[in-house]
Amino acid sequence: MKKVGVVGVGYVGLTQAIGMAQLGHSVIAYDIDQAKIEKLNKGNSPFFEPGLEEALVDAQSKNLISFSSDADNFINAEYIFLCLPTPQDEDGSADLTYLLEAVSNIRNVLKPNSYLIIKSTVPVNAWKQVEQIVKRDDVFVISNPEFLREGSALFDFHNPDRIVIGATNKELGQIVAELYENIPSTILLTDNTSAELIKYAANSFLAMKLSFVNDIAALSDNLNASSSDVLKGVGLDKRIGNKFLTPGPGWGGSCFPKDVRALVNIADKEKIMMPLLSAALKSNASAQDRVVDKVLKYFNQKTDAKVAILGLAFKANTDDFRNSPAVKIANNLKEKGFEVRCYDPQIKKHATLATFESIHEVVNEADMLLILTEWDDFRQLDPKEISRNMQGRVILDTRHVLNRPTWELHKFRFL
Ligand code: UDX
Repeated sequence: MKKVGVVGVGYVGLTQAIGMAQLGHSVIAYDIDQAKIEKLNKGNSPFFEPGLEEALVDAQSKNLISFSSDADNFINAEYIFLCLPTPQDEDGSADLTYLLEAVSNIRNVLKPNSYLIIKSTVPVNAWKQVEQIVKRDDVFVISNPEFLREGSALFDFHNPDRIVIGATNKELGQIVAELYENIPSTILLTDNTSAELIKYAANSFLAMKLSFVNDIAALSDNLNASSSDVLKGVGLDKRIGNKFLTPGPGWGGSCFPKDVRALVNIADKEKIMMPLLSAALKSNASAQDRVVDKVLKYFNQKTDAKVAILGLAFKANTDDFRNSPAVKIANNLKEKGFEVRCYDPQIKKHATLATFESIHEVVNEADMLLILTEWDDFRQLDPKEISRNMQGRVILDTRHVLNRPTWELHKFRFL
């Protein structure tokens, strides 16, 4: 059992803190947001993540985790994970303000021979800026990027495809790797800079893959081919693989858009042109526009129809709608004049969109049903019940969650 500190209890930090406690380590997690700390000490998670709150309460019952808004409590932790937000600046670069401020706040309380472990996604060579602030040769700066997906974060923590640890020498990396010794996984020990670049390269590759998937799906539809068969056939090639091949209304979230733009920014500064990344961003914007264009085309550019929207989160099993294509599409349709009524099981209110407590209220009298997030709730919709409530019989299922033949039997038409 080691003494572990976590700075920042957002989507990544809270998962890291609870995951470390589940591995048997003694964890103290810190955040400047006192309200969040109080909520957590009462056993309540500040956001929705399947299984996280139960794991939190279990770790607390074993006295393996506590939360504080006082940095001095880190005095006993020998491993400190930095899980601060690194939001995007106007020029696309990652803003390190929160990270560097946290480092300067805690540098004096760190005990000798402690490990400052950067978990946040940071620009390449950010670790050197952290070293310059720490200015202690008895505190070792380690890069340990996260590969957690929202909605399956705790699962991903315990079942990673790989654990990447960047350090100035292998011995330091190995010491930090021991924190994860109870997780069966490939451990890649490398240098700090390579570890930071692995994160951006992996996320950007995944985003690029999805842009290609969405473009191929659109082309298949236009050619009257079966997009699911086409993508299934492509994914059977083991070099491509059948994961991350589900078309959608575009990709979003707090990572992909930010990380792709950050990598473009990093490459630009090194005068390495990466047109594929800029093209992936453009393709993703087109994927969202295609949904709006399909709706406009169906209504012959008349924009006084009622559109029922199911799903606002950027993907299922999360309440996160940062950079959500669903929100962008819903707002775009509303600005064009449509009456947009939204339902999402985890998002009950939104600043600009009319959200409702039930699917029934949203589909009532609607001319079109537009599915934008792949919640399981929507897979079980009853076509008979929906047809009784809806005015129209047209569906745009951007996530392919509905069984088309069943719905077509009930006179529904899919765009
Ligand atoms: C991503 C990376 O997967 C994760 O490794 C990294 O640590 C953080 O960023 P996340 O953003 O939580 O995780 O979600 P992810 O499941 O990757 O989905 C990203 C976007 O792609 C979502 O908008 C999702 O709807 C979309 N997506 C994903 C698809 O459209 N089709 C797919 O097959 C998979």
